[in-house]
Amino acid sequence: MCGCGQQCWSWGHSPMFLLSLLLSTAPFALRGEDTRQVSLQVIPSWPDAPQNLLHVRAVGTNSTLHYVWGTLGPPAVVLVATNTPHSTLSVNWSHLLSPEPEGGLMVLPKDSIQFSSALVFTRLLEFDSTNVSDTAAKAPGKPYSPYSLAKFSWNNITDSLDPTTLTATFQGHPMNDATGAFVNGSLSFRVQAFSRSGRPAQSPRLLHTADTCQLEVTLVGASPRGNRSLFGLEVATLGGGPDCPLVQEQHSIDDEYAPAVFQLDQLLWGSLPTGFVQWRPVAYSQQLGGRESALPCHASPLHPTLAYSLPQSPIVRAFFGPQNNFCAFNMTFGTSTGPGYWDQRYLSWSMLVGVGSPPADALSPLVLGIMAVALGAPGLILLGGGLVLLLRHKRSSEYESIN
Ligand SMILES: *[C@@H]1O[C@H](CO)[C@@H](O)[C@H](O)[C@H]1NC(C)=O
Ligand SMILES: *[C@@H]1O[C@H](CO)[C@@H](O)[C@H](O)[C@H]1NC(C)=O
Ligand SMILES: *[C@@H]1O[C@H](CO)[C@@H](O)[C@H](O)[C@H]1NC(C)=O
Ligand SMILES: *[C@@H]1O[C@H](CO)[C@@H](O)[C@H](O)[C@H]1NC(C)=O
Ligand SMILES: *[C@@H]1O[C@H](CO)[C@@H](O)[C@H](O)[C@H]1NC(C)=O
Ligand SMILES: *[C@@H]1O[C@H](CO)[C@@H](O)[C@H](O)[C@H]1NC(C)=O
Ligand SMILES: *[C@@H]1O[C@H](CO)[C@@H](O)[C@H](O)[C@H]1NC(C)=O
Repeated sequence: MCGCGQQCWSWGHSPMFLLSLLLSTAPFALRGEDTRQVSLQVIPSWPDAPQNLLHVRAVGTNSTLHYVWGTLGPPAVVLVATNTPHSTLSVNWSHLLSPEPEGGLMVLPKDSIQFSSALVFTRLLEFDSTNVSDTAAKAPGKPYSPYSLAKFSWNNITDSLDPTTLTATFQGHPMNDATGAFVNGSLSFRVQAFSRSGRPAQSPRLLHTADTCQLEVTLVGASPRGNRSLFGLEVATLGGGPDCPLVQEQHSIDDEYAPAVFQLDQLLWGSLPTGFVQWRPVAYSQQLGGRESALPCHASPLHPTLAYSLPQSPIVRAFFGPQNNFCAFNMTFGTSTGPGYWDQRYLSWSMLVGVGSPPADALSPLVLGIMAVALGAPGLILLGGGLVLLLRHKRSSEYESIN
């Protein structure tokens, strides 16, 4: 089970919530757009300072979304929604690379900004689960010292940028790999943007819109430190206010798109549709993610975390200035018993990050059909039974009247 804030809701339980979501007058720019003109651009840095900064610009009729992904420091994304189709990103590299990067990354004009936040992937965690017999136990096992993702070196994303699929991949390994664990291994962050809504062919087939980006995190080939190592990812986000963003679980009876997974989790930055992160609590231990290779994920509750205890992201600081209201959580993948990273030294997990209202799965036609049959049959029986009772009652009362 993934962490759940004060408020949990599930399908069908809160029609009022859905109604209020529909009726709420969201800020103009946060209304989603069906299609967007999406472009991916690598922001060139100085030749002698290879730094990866990817700008995803998604232009709609009345709004522009900016997603700035970077591996300057730990992998991070700054997401910004503006209410004009003309807003631009401005980067000053000398400022950004300085010890005080505030203002080195801006979206202009500033007064067009309707929403902004950030996610930082701070650490790769590894746990020894050999002595964890109870799979329901909260702790994944004894932690090994985590890999700080600020101390990774990353490839040049220019080579992986594909303008047709709107993807780019950040691939990295520890700068200082004393144990040689990553000699044959790497950790990848594959970013994909979309110009319209749809669903990828690959599990867990998250429904995306033109307002979202998908991130697939993949660990391949790295040597685990134990026979039964479970991996995890520490994720930090900006709180926005005094409270941490809300994490919700949604349950569905439908697993058409992610076999045996009946849950969708999401992190919401505000009560109005502002920004969100969405994922299914499932990771895969094989490239062709199927039911056999599905690992359950556990998200710890989101906690306020002091900035200094986390690896810092210069791009987040450059955009937001010095911040203290970080909230962080740990995602752990798999259990000591099920399939695991140890099978093929492969692990992948996907999430969506977006602005506006999170995409909501409609029930698939198959499930609707099953429901119609399942609800229909007892309905007919009830109806038939009712008629029989009515008739029998009538007849018995007729008999009575005769007597
Ligand atoms: C990244 O690769 C591109 C194309 O291969 C090249 O033009 C560019 O100079 C490289 N950048 C760095 C910082 O190495
Ligand atoms: C964009 O703005 C114009 C004028 O303000 C409005 O008529 C139109 O409906 C808006 N389009 C969308 C997609 O919101
Ligand atoms: C970039 O930042 C540096 C240092 O903060 C500043 O001196 C320079 O004028 C800035 N460049 C531009 C084009 O704003
Ligand atoms: C697991 O438990 C056994 C027996 O209790 C102990 O000898 C061993 O050191 C434990 N291993 C770890 C990694 O804690
Ligand atoms: C890396 O791969 C090579 C060749 O496949 C293999 O000989 C070596 O043992 C591997 N190293 C590790 C640490 O897995
Ligand atoms: C890992 O498994 C091998 C073979 O099953 C065993 O010899 C070894 O002691 C195990 N290592 C650890 C750290 O448990
Ligand atoms: C994540 O797990 C690691 C290792 O157990 C721990 O040091 C860290 O504090 C955890 N982070 C959060 C946000 O819970």
